[in-house]
Parts: sequence; structure tokens; C-alpha cells
Amino acid sequence: MKNESIVYLNGEYVPKSEAMVPVEDRGFLFGDAVYEATPAYGGEPFLLDRHLARLSRGLAALRIDYDVGEMPEIHRGLLAENGLDDAPFAFVYVQVTRGVAPRGHAFPREPVPPTVFGFANPAVRPPRNRWEEGYAAVTVPDRRWGRVDVKVTSLVANVLAQQAAADAGVEDAILVRDGMALEGTHNNFFAVFDGAVTTSPASNYILYGITRSFVLERAAALGIPVDERAIPVEELREADEAFFAGTTTEIRPTVQVDGRPVGTGRVGPVTRRLYDDFVAVTSGGGTVAAA
Ligand SMILES: Cc1ncc(COP(=O)(O)O)c(C=O)c1O
Repeated sequence: MKNESIVYLNGEYVPKSEAMVPVEDRGFLFGDAVYEATPAYGGEPFLLDRHLARLSRGLAALRIDYDVGEMPEIHRGLLAENGLDDAPFAFVYVQVTRGVAPRGHAFPREPVPPTVFGFANPAVRPPRNRWEEGYAAVTVPDRRWGRVDVKVTSLVANVLAQQAAADAGVEDAILVRDGMALEGTHNNFFAVFDGAVTTSPASNYILYGITRSFVLERAAALGIPVDERAIPVEELREADEAFFAGTTTEIRPTVQVDGRPVGTGRVGPVTRRLYDDFVAVTSGGGTVAAA
């Protein structure tokens, strides 16, 4: 990796310290923007089509006029510019804002070009012995808006929930709305009941992650039962296992929730099997082998 990272801004690759966005950018003023974060294994963006399909859906939901057609090239360009084209694990972040205009809530009357920004960073998979110890989570009320299926950059409710986890000295927050354990602040939440991998159904109340869909597919391929249903927070006491999944999280086992052990309080066999499979699939640059 070179000393100063190279970012992408509106068609150019520039050193991070030279990338400037005007103060009237609506991403800055309103969080009027969508983003994507895609993992790359061995320099190969993983499931990029799915990430870009989600980005397109988000742009359409916000009515931002931007074609994601140039995105694969930007992803590869960012990895190459930063010497990450053969890194074992990295991620690429891209963000598209509505653009720059004098402040006013409604869209600018005259359309302005969107601001397109991106960066690539190395990512770290925890050492296996750390992973095997498991991680802890706390439940936190979900104070987000009603369209969290759109990956918008306005993330202050997620920030506060993650800080509540940090204040509690744990790694993850389980967001709870109407008594249901929905997802994490930047990852999806899963519990295992009687061997079935259970997670909230896709709706406007979760950001249904690409990793989530991949984990569900791999579970099915491995013959592990899958159950997409809302999980009442009290039911977590009966869970045999729990874990989070997401782009930088990968699959992170949760052995304690709100100070109580999950199941035996140790990483369980279903989580371990899914993780072993995930590691095997992604260590080859992310090419999915037949199960
Ligand atoms: C709220 C939330 N849920 C879930 C996810 C996981 O999505 P993915 O697996 O596509 O990274 C994210 C990713 O940033 C997220 O922000």
C-alpha cells in the first residue's frame, strides 16, 4: 500500500488530501446521498453486481440521476491505485450525492451533476483464535427512519447505536423496533434456533445486506435450514447461536447479548460451519464453488 491513499472524485484519482468537496454539497448539508461498500478478495470485488444493483435501486429511490455503468471500472481503479489489487481482503466505498447547490430542502430547480466519491482501504479478518472467542452485543432501540432498505449516508441513528455498543464495551448493537431484533448498525443479525438460521425478512425496516443474501444461499446449499422471520427480542434468550454478517464484518459470532450468554456462551457449530465455508469461498478471490 502506498503512503497516501488515492481516492476517486468526479472522474479523477487524486491523493486523499487533495480531494475537495464544496461546502454546499447536499451530501454534506443533508446526507442527501447513497453509498455502497463492497469487499474485494485477492483484488477481486466480491458480488459486485449485487452491490451495484442495490446502489441503482437507492439512486432511483432518491431520484438521483446517475448511471452506475462506470462503477466496475472505478472499483478496479481504486484497488489498483492503492496497491490493493492482490490484497487478501480490502473494501471499496463509493458515494453518490445529489450534487452541489445553495441550501434548500427540495431538489435544486436546475439539475446539478451528482458528486461521485470513492476510496479503497485494506480490511482485516480477525485471527482465528480471536474469532473463536466470540463477541458481545447489546440491544439498542432502533431510532432510524422508515426506509432503511435504502443505503443512504444519513447514518446518525446508526452512529449513536454503535456508540451505545462502544460505551457498553461490546462490538455490536442489535437494533430493536416494536420488540423485534432487526439487524446491526452496519451488519445483519442472525440467530440459530434448533439448527435453523433465522434472520429478519427483507423489508423497509432492514438494510438487507448482500452478505445476508449470500449467507442464506450458502446455508441452503449446505443443507442448513433457513428461516426468514422477525425475531422477538425475548426469543433471543432461547437462541442456540447468534452472529452478525456484513461486508467488513464477514461472519462474526455473538456469544453474549446484554450480558447474558447466547446458548452455551461459546461459538456454535452452525456459525462455525458457515464461517468455514465463507472463508473457503472468499480465499480463492471470491469465486463461488458449487456446494
Ligand atoms: C444497517 C446495515 N445493515 C446491514 C448491512 C450489511 O450489508 P452488506 O452485507 O451488503 O454489507 C449494512 C452494511 O453497511 C448496514 O449498514
